Amino acid sequence: MAKTESSTMKEGKERYKSGVIPYKKMGYWEPDYEIKETDVLAMFRITPQKGVEPDECAAAVAGESSTATWTVVWTDRLTACEMYRAKAYRVDPVPNTGPGTNTEQQYFAYIAYDIDLFESNSIANLTASIIGNVFGMKAVKALRLEDMRIPVAYLKTFQGPATGVVVERERMDKFGRPLLGATTKPKLGLSGRNYGRVVYEALKGGLDFMKDDENINSQSFMHWRDRFLYCMDAVNKASAATGEVKGHYMNVTAGTVEEMIERAEFAKSLGSIIVMIDLVIGYSAIQTMAIWARKNDMILHLHRAGNSTYSRQKNHGMAFRVICKWMRMAGVDHIHAGTVVGKLEGDPMMIRGYYDTLLDQQTPIQLEKGIFFDQDWASLNKCMPVASGGIHAGQMHQLLTYLGDDVVLQFGGGTIGHPDGIQAGAVANRTALEVMVQARNEGRDIWNEGPQILKDAAKWCSPLKAGLDTWGDISFNYESTDSPDFVATPTTSN
Ligand code: 3PG
Ligand code: MG
Repeated sequence: MAKTESSTMKEGKERYKSGVIPYKKMGYWEPDYEIKETDVLAMFRITPQKGVEPDECAAAVAGESSTATWTVVWTDRLTACEMYRAKAYRVDPVPNTGPGTNTEQQYFAYIAYDIDLFESNSIANLTASIIGNVFGMKAVKALRLEDMRIPVAYLKTFQGPATGVVVERERMDKFGRPLLGATTKPKLGLSGRNYGRVVYEALKGGLDFMKDDENINSQSFMHWRDRFLYCMDAVNKASAATGEVKGHYMNVTAGTVEEMIERAEFAKSLGSIIVMIDLVIGYSAIQTMAIWARKNDMILHLHRAGNSTYSRQKNHGMAFRVICKWMRMAGVDHIHAGTVVGKLEGDPMMIRGYYDTLLDQQTPIQLEKGIFFDQDWASLNKCMPVASGGIHAGQMHQLLTYLGDDVVLQFGGGTIGHPDGIQAGAVANRTALEVMVQARNEGRDIWNEGPQILKDAAKWCSPLKAGLDTWGDISFNYESTDSPDFVATPTTSN
């Protein structure tokens, strides 16, 4: 830990004289600060501009994300400014950056915020400070929010997941295995009746859930009421045919919260057990929908549409694990959190870190997973991670090994694109999942024996054979953009 001398000028005539003094001097750098249990902690990756010292940069981030502006203001003295100033308390060089590497020198800066800086139960208020103006400051060339520690006292002001993993499993009557789903394809253009046929076939074939895509709302080719009516018809018929509880995530995303509530109420009136929203609706809208879901006994699915615009690149933006934390607080029951082996960005260790963040009661510091703080989840419900995006039955042993049981595995193209039809696609996925869970439970080494376990099952399950013949060799072997800083774990789906 690199600590430098504090040259803070906290009080006195000089401190409040009009003019510009460094943020450090203004009191935003306090290397000896003793963290309080009730503090909100944040860790940022900073790339200082040339000539700006890292601890001054950290102090600037602390200042601009709490009380400071660019110049001294005497009105500080009308407040409990000592308490309200955020304190940068630690700066560490980031491994593998700086001289001798291909990356500019970066630093991890730790900052503590007094809990009184934040309004209860408001992700909007928390984020307006933590990821507000501060991201545009000229003195900081690039900035990324890597992790946060939310104190129990603040967590307790949030509802947390409306339903949670335990109650969701009870309502679905599914235990001891991942849940299975699929996204209806093509993404756009189907009429209500054709859409409903896709949903019926996939559910009848063995999936637990079907799902709207993130960009299906109420376009001219299919208005939302048509979609809801045909989808519920499909859910009811498939449940009757299989004797299983089934669901279809009705995407209620719309231009206003009022419209979303109207759509969610309609979904409920038809007997749906789940509704869906997209991350792009914004934090307050998400919190409102979570409260609605809790009151109405509905599961709330969140698609993370939009997150990669700011979470994927390592030098600027925010890590997806922080979005996972905020969304667990905000109260969603499901969140798309990565597949490792599929078509979307995902280093295995980073993704395990997201899943732990969503599911743990206590998450310990694990630098290799990108987790920089101990986090006590204060009994907030668990949020179910969803693995979606370019996965297929041939990867089942990898999915189960990487992601465990508490996950919804969603095969969109990997169900609907099956050569023998949608129902066959669903049968292939359900069979692959069940044989793999059984093999694991019998103590077999599914990581190494997985391909053979699937081949053996394909001998008696022709839909699985056709699926493996079509997709068995498909993998997405690209280097991860957002990889851990502390251990090299090249992403591979082999
Ligand atoms: C999603 O919304 O999760 C994706 O559209 C999944 O589709 P895929 O399984 O066909 O990649
Ligand atoms: Mg999609």
